[in-house]
Amino acid sequence: MDNIVLTIDNKKISCPAGTSILQAAIQNDIKIPHLCYHPDLKPFGACRLCLVEDEQSGRLMASCVTPVVADMTLLTDTPRILSHRRNIVRLMIAEHPESCIVCSKGNRCQLRWAAAQMGIGETDLYSMPNYKPLEQANPFIIRDLSKCILCGKCIRADHELVVVGAIDYNLRGFESRPATVHEQGLEQSNCTFCGTCVSMCPTGALSAKSSQYVGSPATESFSICGFCGVGCSLAMGQSAGKVIDVNPAHLADSVNKATLCVRGHFAHDFLNSPRRLIAPMMPKEKEDETSEMAPVSWDAALDQVADRLRQIKEESGPQSIAFLGSSKCSNEENYLIQKIARVLIGTNNVDNGGYVSGQFLSTILDQKTGGGGRPAPFDNLATADVIVVLGADPNHSLPVVSYYLKRAAKNGVPLVVIDPRKTDLVSFASLWLPIKPQTDLELINAMAALLHETNAYDSEFIDRYAEGFSLFTYALSSLDMKKICRLTGLEMQQVNAMAALLKEKRVAFVIGHGILQQRYGTHTLGAILNLSLMTGSLGAEGAGIYILARENNQNGAMDMGTIPDLLPGRMPIAEDSNRKTWEKNWGIKISPDPGLNMGRVIEAAESGQLKALYIMGENPLRSLPQPQRVKAALENLEFVAVQDILDSEIANLADVVLPGAAMSEKGGSFTNLEGRIQSFAPVVTPPGKAKPDWEILDLLAARLETSATYGSLEKIRDEIRRLVPAYADLNGSATAWVKPYSPMAVFGARDAHEMISFSPVVSSADEPDDSDYPFTAILGSLRYHLGSGTRTSASERIRDLDHTGDVAINVRDADKLKLKDGDAVKIETRWGEIKRNIGRSNRIGPGQLFVPLAVNDNDAMNLIDLTDLSEPNSTGWKTCAAKITRA
Ligand code: SF4
Ligand code: SF4
Ligand code: SF4
Ligand code: FES
Repeated sequence: MDNIVLTIDNKKISCPAGTSILQAAIQNDIKIPHLCYHPDLKPFGACRLCLVEDEQSGRLMASCVTPVVADMTLLTDTPRILSHRRNIVRLMIAEHPESCIVCSKGNRCQLRWAAAQMGIGETDLYSMPNYKPLEQANPFIIRDLSKCILCGKCIRADHELVVVGAIDYNLRGFESRPATVHEQGLEQSNCTFCGTCVSMCPTGALSAKSSQYVGSPATESFSICGFCGVGCSLAMGQSAGKVIDVNPAHLADSVNKATLCVRGHFAHDFLNSPRRLIAPMMPKEKEDETSEMAPVSWDAALDQVADRLRQIKEESGPQSIAFLGSSKCSNEENYLIQKIARVLIGTNNVDNGGYVSGQFLSTILDQKTGGGGRPAPFDNLATADVIVVLGADPNHSLPVVSYYLKRAAKNGVPLVVIDPRKTDLVSFASLWLPIKPQTDLELINAMAALLHETNAYDSEFIDRYAEGFSLFTYALSSLDMKKICRLTGLEMQQVNAMAALLKEKRVAFVIGHGILQQRYGTHTLGAILNLSLMTGSLGAEGAGIYILARENNQNGAMDMGTIPDLLPGRMPIAEDSNRKTWEKNWGIKISPDPGLNMGRVIEAAESGQLKALYIMGENPLRSLPQPQRVKAALENLEFVAVQDILDSEIANLADVVLPGAAMSEKGGSFTNLEGRIQSFAPVVTPPGKAKPDWEILDLLAARLETSATYGSLEKIRDEIRRLVPAYADLNGSATAWVKPYSPMAVFGARDAHEMISFSPVVSSADEPDDSDYPFTAILGSLRYHLGSGTRTSASERIRDLDHTGDVAINVRDADKLKLKDGDAVKIETRWGEIKRNIGRSNRIGPGQLFVPLAVNDNDAMNLIDLTDLSEPNSTGWKTCAAKITRA
């Protein structure tokens, strides 16, 4: 777009045509007061504070809704403008209640700020406060609409950014207010408590319940959300060394911009939980000869860990020791823990909690595509040809991803949702395929066959990048569509409708736990890759495969090598050249044997092959299936060290507990699921004697090998930058991006020489009906908890919600079983049982049960088998056969 030139306050500026006057002024450091403008929202023109005057015509105009015109000459602070602005603010103040003085928005209230700037104290206008009842029944948000100035930011944020539509204008004139349907409380509406409206609100009309009467933060610093893989940027406010307020950082180039979800906005109170570990601990014998954990010095705790690891290594060899790095800890910490395992102990037994989220599929994708499996920025989804969401309910698991999907769908991008349940995304979808659980593989194969049949594939892309197409299409020709319809429970018409949407389109596949943890996960991923190759989607803008990493640093932990069979830089350990590279880097010999993954660690502990386990920031007792079996296995070990931030079941099993720091209490970097490396600095200091995890590992390394210390975070980063080329840009201040690993990762690169093979066409088994366990239980997350819920269940606000995780059952099934809402039931599978209440639902198909994870200490993990997820014949962790009876 052409630039045009205009003058504001005697300053000549240039900006693209179509820019609003206010934007042009902001871009050129010219300050114009405004209350209803936000760069991420459509301009609205409600407050009229942003008035400017056209010098030639004398016309006053709201600068946020008026586009620039060439050769305009504008003034922003003439006496006329100032008088109008003062009157606007005086009227707002006259309508405001007297509670201003105790308002929790305090000095951050933009109305108060504007009034102070204009020298407005008490107004001489007749005071007409517009009292409204305080709404605060929910644990997160207080609505005091007597302080509302009708700027409309909350409504626009709710509709345009998070696309929920929980609030809208109600009534007119003096009575007009943002309200839910029928003026009910937010807790009775479809509000997700993302808090985006709260951080947008310029006054105290909307505020976080948590920040009521705690005063304004003394400082506000940039940080990164430590919950899910989106990696939202945060502004964390602290007072007296405690985080008291969290808001989106409102950065234009961040992944979340002005949005957050309920966890990021409100669940960070877990940082101040009384369950925080604040001192190193070891068991102390009591008089009755039992023992209890008691605080000890750092030296005593670390000496004990080093001595025991050294002793066990000497007695039983390095393979008798395993380490769990953390999908929640920083890149620097993960690099360090795997280096301790591989270099100082001499074992490849190192994994991280991403195992639970099926991270092995990311490895497979990387390896099959030569690093081309990296997802692209979410921004690209806005321009996708078509988006297919499989086995993912990002509205709950990764809410900010769902905002991207909903916004794209609202703007006309066709969205296909493949899910047995009618998730919230379905109302935005062009097509919903209510597929039977675990049959996605069949549907994707059918898509490939139908696109092939109609010649609707990208032969140029296939010729250039793929091999084995003829064999693949030969296998497709034998697929039986009738059988596919029977297995998937779909009509041929529905299958054809999806093929029509994909025809000659580049596709963005968004896949979640429904695929990553399912029985046929590996084959389904192979089928998705086949379809991506056929449609030329890999590497195309707004297309490709988006694997929804659940934990905040799952991708970074993989990049740093806390994976048994991958060295840092995701280099497969089985390849001689990779081992040689790292043997040279570290000056050691590396065994080609892949170490134990998290599942195998439990088996090795049971058999006695494993003697010691060092766990950093993971809780296998909650995150793995069969917690009793996992507990018995860990009790079988000679030594367990737990480095964590919260006291939990796993800390109770430890021989030594080392208190770590949460992300707001240390420096480091996380890599989000787009490959964005984001660095952060401490906002507060760790509680008590807790230390940053990198420092704990560094102190331990020093005890194992005196020359192995770094002494500073920067030195660890230096080494990562030097040795892991994908992290060459890790800089400790701004966002960097993971660099592609190989030329194949950049499709179109001239020297891309390897070819990607089509995966074999595999069909799922025709399962007989199971009369003993006639239901299919689907395990899944709800937005208030992340993963197994260790951190979110330490949040008082989430607990106050009293979220009980009712099991959803189809209304007709409930009728047959004579069950009504809230009835207590027992869910049994071949592996275990749980008790819950039920909720009747039309969003789930007959014969299915939806069991929310994370509640009741994540007891739902009792229902499934502890099978190694990464094994192709694994029965998966997502679904299982179940029966339901009245409890
Ligand atoms: S909290 Fe989020 S979902 Fe609820 S009204 Fe505000 S913006 Fe909408
Ligand atoms: S509640 Fe706040 S954001 Fe919403 S219209 Fe009122 S003042 Fe504006
Ligand atoms: S939990 Fe995920 S989506 Fe929510 S604020 Fe944190 S990073 Fe963003
Ligand atoms: S900021 Fe322009 S009218 Fe409110």
